[in-house]
Amino acid sequence: MDFKLTEEQQMIKQAARDFAQTDCLPGVIERDDQQKFPQDQIKKMGELGFMGMMVSPEYGGSGMDTLSYVLAMEEISKIDASCSVAMSVNNSLVCWGLEKFGTEEQKQKYLKPLASGEKIGAFCLSEPEAGSDATSQRTTAEDKGDYYLLNGTKNWITNGNSASIYLVIAQTDPEKGHRGINALIVEKGMDGFVVGKKEDKLGIRGSDTHSLMFTDVKVPKENRIGEDGFGFKFAMKTLSGGRIGIAAQALGIAAGAYELALKYAQERKAFGKEIMRHQAIAFKLADMHTEIEAARMLVYKAAMDKDNGESFDLSSAMAKLKASQVAMDVTVEAVQIHGGYGYVKEYHVERLMRDAKITQIYEGTSEIQKIVISRAIAD
Ligand code: CAA
Ligand code: FAD
Repeated sequence: MDFKLTEEQQMIKQAARDFAQTDCLPGVIERDDQQKFPQDQIKKMGELGFMGMMVSPEYGGSGMDTLSYVLAMEEISKIDASCSVAMSVNNSLVCWGLEKFGTEEQKQKYLKPLASGEKIGAFCLSEPEAGSDATSQRTTAEDKGDYYLLNGTKNWITNGNSASIYLVIAQTDPEKGHRGINALIVEKGMDGFVVGKKEDKLGIRGSDTHSLMFTDVKVPKENRIGEDGFGFKFAMKTLSGGRIGIAAQALGIAAGAYELALKYAQERKAFGKEIMRHQAIAFKLADMHTEIEAARMLVYKAAMDKDNGESFDLSSAMAKLKASQVAMDVTVEAVQIHGGYGYVKEYHVERLMRDAKITQIYEGTSEIQKIVISRAIAD
């Protein structure tokens, strides 16, 4: 594995770092506190090409590789994980799936505005009673000839209110089980589509997480992605890439907390010397640094597998499992290193600790990643 970054990748990393410092850092505490969606930041991310990073320029994207996307995700997540989750969903769950499996008409109509950041997308798989057990879809898409009649409720949808294009997974033929599921492109404003309440969350509080209700929504047949019954496979394939994005988010949260903790430990004095010179603190930072580097290897490897056209189901699951655990462990230690100051909002690490937790839950919980990994190694 060669993790030496190209000149272009280094530039992207720096551009994302500059953007995060200049545009995301100011107001990040207030947005978290007030649960304010980072509208201006997302708009700027679109202008900078961060919302459709891997989409070909033909469809308005930046045409970059997955590693570049991971580098940008990592840098932005160091500062604001609410921005980076919107970016991750748009890039890897919505744009990637549309470009890979959509028709030319779907790409022209939906991918283009999503890749340029003009519009935001959402990916709607989870339901009140179907989270990890994702084949148990209760939302139905009844085949009515030239359209599907969509009924049901989706839960926990990221970009739930700010999106205008939604990829909705629903059951068409219950007798066929997961092979009777379809993925449909639904537009905000379609009759019978209502955005439900916003969730009041522990972390990523700037991200708008909503339930969505569909009552007799007529979705044209041409909005189905792939062949009839491809919906569940579409979701699984898309999530394998999505998990690389969330792994990069977790890595960024960990690295952001570590950078703050290291700086603080070099400045804060106790018992006549910088706390970094107390071995207990220095060893914490040594462990944090080592674990972050280990997670980084797995995340970059998963991205490279995808870029090299190799299977990335296993590597993305391992990357997400490891990086999310590291994010949790490192952020807890970063709060500890800050002492009482770590417990208040001003020093950022308490927010990073709260944000870290979601990376072990969404896009497949850590337990689900272990299922994916254990099945892959048993094959
Ligand atoms: N690629 C292609 N096909 C796949 C696949 C993959 N990576 N993984 C599974 N499949 C296929 C299987 O081959 C099978 O099809 P066939 O029977 O035709 O071969 C079908 O999918 C069903 O697979 P399983 O029998 O393995 O299904 P299962 O019920 O045991 O569940 C699971 C498998 C991995 C647990 C899956 O349900 C899962 O990933 N659950 C977690 C759901 C999840 O990650 N949700 C995230 C929502 S999005 C989100 O969270 C976004 C956000 O927060 C920002
Ligand atoms: P459950 O599936 O009920 O799991 C509960 C517990 O049981 C977990 O610890 C789980 O790991 C464990 N468990 C379940 N099954 C097994 C098993 N077989 N073996 C071992 N342990 C098991 N979904 C979307 O579709 N789109 C989104 O944009 C989106 N964004 C989200 C944003 C946020 C902030 C949150 C909180 C969730 C989001 N989700 C989204 C949903 C998310 O993917 C699910 O919450 C997640 O997949 C877990 O499903 P669940 O909450 O129903 O938990």
